[in-house]
Amino acid sequence: MSELIDTSSREETTPHPEMPMAVLAEMTHRCPLRCPYCSNPLALSRASDELSTEDWRRVIDELPEIGVLQLHFSGGEPLIRKDLVELVRHAGQAGLYTNLITSAVLLDATKVAALAEAGLNHVQISFQGSREEEEADRIAGMPGAHLRKLEAARQIREADLPLTVNAVMHRQNLDQLPEMIDLAVDLGAGRLEVAHVQYYGWALKNRAALIPTLDQLERATEIVEEAIRRLKGILVIDYVIPDYYARRPKQCMGGWGQRFFNISPDGKVLPCHAAASITGLSFDSVRDHPLAWIWRHSPALNRYRGVDWMRAPCRNCEYREIDRGGCRCQAFALTGEAENTDPACALSPRHEEIFALAATESAEDRRRLLYRAHGGGVWESEG
Ligand code: SF4
Ligand code: FES
Repeated sequence: MSELIDTSSREETTPHPEMPMAVLAEMTHRCPLRCPYCSNPLALSRASDELSTEDWRRVIDELPEIGVLQLHFSGGEPLIRKDLVELVRHAGQAGLYTNLITSAVLLDATKVAALAEAGLNHVQISFQGSREEEEADRIAGMPGAHLRKLEAARQIREADLPLTVNAVMHRQNLDQLPEMIDLAVDLGAGRLEVAHVQYYGWALKNRAALIPTLDQLERATEIVEEAIRRLKGILVIDYVIPDYYARRPKQCMGGWGQRFFNISPDGKVLPCHAAASITGLSFDSVRDHPLAWIWRHSPALNRYRGVDWMRAPCRNCEYREIDRGGCRCQAFALTGEAENTDPACALSPRHEEIFALAATESAEDRRRLLYRAHGGGVWESEG
């Protein structure tokens, strides 16, 4: 594990960041769903620590000043916040493009109309399955969730709001992929994200029950490639594969602190939603500093900017400016040190081990899932 990092002398040598383009506002960690692949940190922010409406209004006013164009309201479930409509309106008045990332189980026609009237630009709904309500609800950890999502998606399209379907795929639902694609078309979505689970946060606890086999992954990739060709002009499909089977890592978040940041429910500015899991980094809060200062000077954001921090093999690699060494959160989760090469990379000394681990775990006949219990604790599905 890395020790607390002294970054006080780094400011001079750290490259100036580009202007951030998009921000994910995590309004709350509260959520009615219990998804076993939740990528939020193990230690969730309490409701009493959340930023107030006034805090958020001030933060929203600061976003255009530092170049931000898009604001994604997320969580947890952002609809739990009573001030969501007000903040969407405020963001629109500040000139920001607004997107609501939601489970949709708290949406109804009245809320959809209020959000549309407030100027919301786009909605993204996550789906846990397509075929059997009970199975989708089992994954979500909430009875009745799937039907509510279907109804909310229809209301969103009736309100003429653009819709993205986010299909989170894993070993227990990959056989439903063709129906998930059909579902997105039937709902009138303009975009479908087929996103294999990424194993950060709570998802790491359920990796052995969720990671697909290599055969499943290859079949899913064929299905997606065929659908992309067939549905050209009807549905845009984005595809995210599980890192453990990759040869080269993804350029996570476009690079640490490059074009994007997260604001956690309690106001911390993070390069991604999982970064709070990296021990030894202290993230600055909008409660203590203006956003412009944080973006430029926060030691934690500067820690992995540029390439000076890299170790071998990244340090001398021809791809270092392209993938920026992969994902720091994954490097930390799998090796204990965020400075290490992401083991998703075939050049990482840990890559073969991770690949073998994926093969072993995916072959297990395991369906039981661990869920976060409301109010703390853990419960296990009968599955
Ligand atoms: Fe990317 Fe590092 Fe792998 Fe090179 S060694 S491909 S820079 S992760
Ligand atoms: Fe944090 Fe990849 S999720 S850097």
